[in-house]
Amino acid sequence: MKIKKVTKAVFPVAGMGTRFLPATKSIPKEIMTLVDRPLIQYAIDEARAAGIKEFIFVTSRGKSALEDYFDHSPELESALRKAGKDQLLEVLKDTNMDSGAIAYVRQNRAMGLGHAVWCARRLIGNEPFAVLLPDDVIAAEKPCLQQMVEAYEQTGGNMVAAMEVPPHMASAYGVLDVAEDMGSILQVKGMVEKPKADEAPSNLAVIGRYILTPKIMTNLNKMKQGAGGEIQLTDAIAEEAATPGKVFGFRFRGQRYDCGSKAGFLQATVAFGLSRPDLRDEFGSYLQDLMALQRAAQ
Ligand code: UTP
Repeated sequence: MKIKKVTKAVFPVAGMGTRFLPATKSIPKEIMTLVDRPLIQYAIDEARAAGIKEFIFVTSRGKSALEDYFDHSPELESALRKAGKDQLLEVLKDTNMDSGAIAYVRQNRAMGLGHAVWCARRLIGNEPFAVLLPDDVIAAEKPCLQQMVEAYEQTGGNMVAAMEVPPHMASAYGVLDVAEDMGSILQVKGMVEKPKADEAPSNLAVIGRYILTPKIMTNLNKMKQGAGGEIQLTDAIAEEAATPGKVFGFRFRGQRYDCGSKAGFLQATVAFGLSRPDLRDEFGSYLQDLMALQRAAQ
């Protein structure tokens, strides 16, 4: 079987980000900054490392800061050049996208993740594609999507990133029903979005990285409402899982941070801050002092 290369990725960024109100009243969640780079930059870098060439953003009203972020900024670049700030010019390079490499489609109503992905159907056509949720930030030696692309080249079909969660947390995620556990790759026979605590088929939760076949778009065409009245991507993938060899889970190697939640965002900020050579010492000793002060106060 010849497996088509994955060169397109969809970034659904049309959600309202209500958990970060009031900040998200005027700032898209994906522009919020982890150390010194917006969340979306981490997702774009991961996609590039995995060989993605076409970047499709599903946006909504109020997200223009995202479009500007990936555009050239002639005034800023010329000011930096004049000031001899070559290092900063280099940093800006990652934010520039080639003409035509990036496309924007609108989701005019937040009807769920499945609906957001479906909005990109014409740009996807008849090709496999990746989906990356920028609020899931993954620290990994080899970027998560690259690990998945390598696994997908062996399996074909649809592949979702999976992570073990404590049983009481499963109802916050899409959960896998596993037919066969092959180590890092799992054969999946079903998926349930936000199951009730005692009805989760496993403790393997789906997180925001997917490689999908165009058939998922056909399934999404049905516009079937699922959990929370939303059109769920999980349901469209689950439809395929009834046939063996069509859906796989992938246990990625790395640490995932849920930057869509306040606690997750703060954890990521600490972890990424401490992993940066230019910040590690100062920030690390500040955290140690803070902990010592707290212990003394107890
Ligand atoms: P979330 O469930 O985190 O929703 O969406 P949200 O609106 O971003 O945030 P909260 O829960 O209100 O705080 C997961 C991903 O799916 C996208 C979001 O932008 C996010 O990247 N999404 C969700 C859409 O693009 N459209 C939708 O209708 C729903």
